[in-house]
Amino acid sequence: MKNYNTLVVVGSQWGDEGKGKITDYFSQVTNLVVRYSGGDNAGHQINFNGEKHKVRIVPSGIFNRNVVNIIGNGCVVNLEQLNEELDLIYKTVPNHGTLLISNRAQLVLPYHIQIDEAQEVARGKNKIGTTKRGIGPAYQDKVSRSGIRVGDLFRNNFKEKFKGIWEYQKNFLKKMFDVEILDFETIYTNLIKNFEKIKNNVIECGEYLESAIKEGKKVLFEGAQGAMLDIDHGTYPFVTSSNCSASNVALGSGISFKYIDSVLGVVKAYSTRVGAGGFPVELLNEIGDGIRIRGNEFGSNTKRPRRVGWIDLVALKYAIRSSAIDKIFITLLDVLSGVDEIKLCTSYKLGDKKLTSPPPTAEEFEECVAEYIITPGWNEDITNVKSYSELPNEAKNYLKLIEKFCEVNLVGFSVGPDRTQTVLLEEIF
Ligand code: GDP
Ligand code: IMO
Ligand code: MG
Repeated sequence: MKNYNTLVVVGSQWGDEGKGKITDYFSQVTNLVVRYSGGDNAGHQINFNGEKHKVRIVPSGIFNRNVVNIIGNGCVVNLEQLNEELDLIYKTVPNHGTLLISNRAQLVLPYHIQIDEAQEVARGKNKIGTTKRGIGPAYQDKVSRSGIRVGDLFRNNFKEKFKGIWEYQKNFLKKMFDVEILDFETIYTNLIKNFEKIKNNVIECGEYLESAIKEGKKVLFEGAQGAMLDIDHGTYPFVTSSNCSASNVALGSGISFKYIDSVLGVVKAYSTRVGAGGFPVELLNEIGDGIRIRGNEFGSNTKRPRRVGWIDLVALKYAIRSSAIDKIFITLLDVLSGVDEIKLCTSYKLGDKKLTSPPPTAEEFEECVAEYIITPGWNEDITNVKSYSELPNEAKNYLKLIEKFCEVNLVGFSVGPDRTQTVLLEEIF
């Protein structure tokens, strides 16, 4: 039974599934878009009217005039980055939406970025391959209770409080990594300058959202990263430092989980992964290279070439469970045009055991060997396809195999980066 007009859009793999594109698409019929986790480690590309736009921390609903975009308390925010993105959007997109930010969102500060870099160096060959945006250290500070919330910046004694925290960080960086922190006045002045620009947009997020939902407004919760990068359910430790799964929507935005109506998993037609960690479906050959080029699989944030592989239905089925996904939207289907035979991973072999869900440790995951079913590919260019019936039979079969194996409903697919290259099979929002 449908109770509220709420929809979660969540990444079902290792990030970069096209969540930004799908969020932007549904933003055309949405009132609010809420980010509930992560920070500017996310990078989304959104194309419309022949223009290409990028966002990192700003929710992907910002390109629609009537959408109120909210950065929830579950996020970590670098205010300088936020203002840079907003300034560019306000300058280049006349019909942009508005932006609000939770008073409980945590700040990413310059020393978090320094710690992120220093930790990666210290990890040596075991490095995670982070985006070096200070995300892990900002969440570490949140959990160790030495973080700063946006709401702290309104307090008269903030400078004094911040000085204490800065001193702690200065000693920590010096002792742990022999790294010098930026001087206090520089960090503080820059922080206040950036805070002044957004301070009138700070809200009590849970309260604001609850009344919007009760009024019947349409609310889309936008996930960053992907289910397999979730700190609890992902391929730990090669994950991000937050719960990016849909289960975190309530905690990361301050509303009851009872308001969550449905969860849409965005699924790339193949797999990609940025950074280190096991990847049983990885394609280290010319098929993978072809997909990387056609799919433009280079990080929109870091420009790193993304690792490419076949679709991993073991991981996807696991993500569907851990993220409560009840519908899927397949993206980048066009990129598979021209692949002779397409493989779908349906189990892993670990030693002599057959696994139907990912193992808990990085070492075991690294040792997993993917087992596949194979289906014929198609050669047709499908980038102008406007309906399911126009798809080649082989593409239809491919979609059906995914639906059947994962026991989930396909509600749409995407055949190119543009907003218009999107086919919706049923009204879901
Ligand atoms: P996100 O982080 O999940 O929002 O995804 P990214 O934006 O980082 O990466 C997805 C990339 O694929 C972007 O460059 C999009 O413009 C592009 N994209 C999205 N959907 C499609 C599609 O259906 N076909 C193609 N060819 N590109 C797409
Ligand atoms: P979007 O929202 C793909 C990966 C990093 C690294 C690991 C930890 O665009 O899908 P972090 O900087 O978060 O500590 O890095 O997580 N990672 C992503 N990979 N897409 C993302 O976001 C990612 N955000 C983080 O590459 O392996
Ligand atoms: Mg991305």
